[in-house]
Amino acid sequence: MSIHISAKQGEIADKILLPGDPLRAKVIAEHFLEDAVCFNEVRNMFGYTGTYKGHRVSVMGTGMGMPSISIYARELIVDYGVKKLIRVGTAGSIDPNVHVRELVLAQAAATNSNIIRNDFPEFDFPQIATFTLLDKAYHIAKKLNLTTHVGNVLSSDVFYSNMPERNLKLGELGVKAIEMEAAALYYLGAQHGVDTLAIMTISDSLVNPDEDTSAEERQNTFTDMMTVGLETLIADC
Ligand code: HPA
Repeated sequence: MSIHISAKQGEIADKILLPGDPLRAKVIAEHFLEDAVCFNEVRNMFGYTGTYKGHRVSVMGTGMGMPSISIYARELIVDYGVKKLIRVGTAGSIDPNVHVRELVLAQAAATNSNIIRNDFPEFDFPQIATFTLLDKAYHIAKKLNLTTHVGNVLSSDVFYSNMPERNLKLGELGVKAIEMEAAALYYLGAQHGVDTLAIMTISDSLVNPDEDTSAEERQNTFTDMMTVGLETLIADC
């Protein structure tokens, strides 16, 4: 047991998919994994281990935001020996060419969080994805004919920003979307020498606010993203 996860040693696979929503973890386990067994119910942050195409894989919720994902990802890495962590989530586009339902692979993550600054106040220490995972995910997404963007995202501590114009300015500098977790996940990857990637589907656009999705479209995109995440996890990279 770790402080926030009640699994016994060996109950969590060394590869894990990390949605923010624990109920999404349950849906992924039910729809994509065979013989899935629940390993955590502490704080209802459900986690499951099963097999995907014969490979042992886990999936667990992380909650929203960098403090929350930092707790779970650190315990998964340090206490349970997880080696490959792929976040699957949503993001808001700040690039007019990045549309709802499209995929963004976060090559790097800028952040307004103090999580990295606390440790390195004198550097802008870039948070980057593990290239092998990024490369694999990109080619898997392309093969599935999914419109896929690769680039910088902003991991923000704030969902309801009082300064949205500052976020949009980052869009002018090539940052594709805003989300709330990738930078912290990538920093943990750097600290512990494990592989990390954040994949997101665009759920809303801050620059094309008229863009909308139906529930069915959102479901299809969600399924596509999970397929990319799971195929990347089991790919030999
Ligand atoms: N901001 C931050 N995180 C998000 C957004 C957003 O607009 N949309 C989905 N996740």
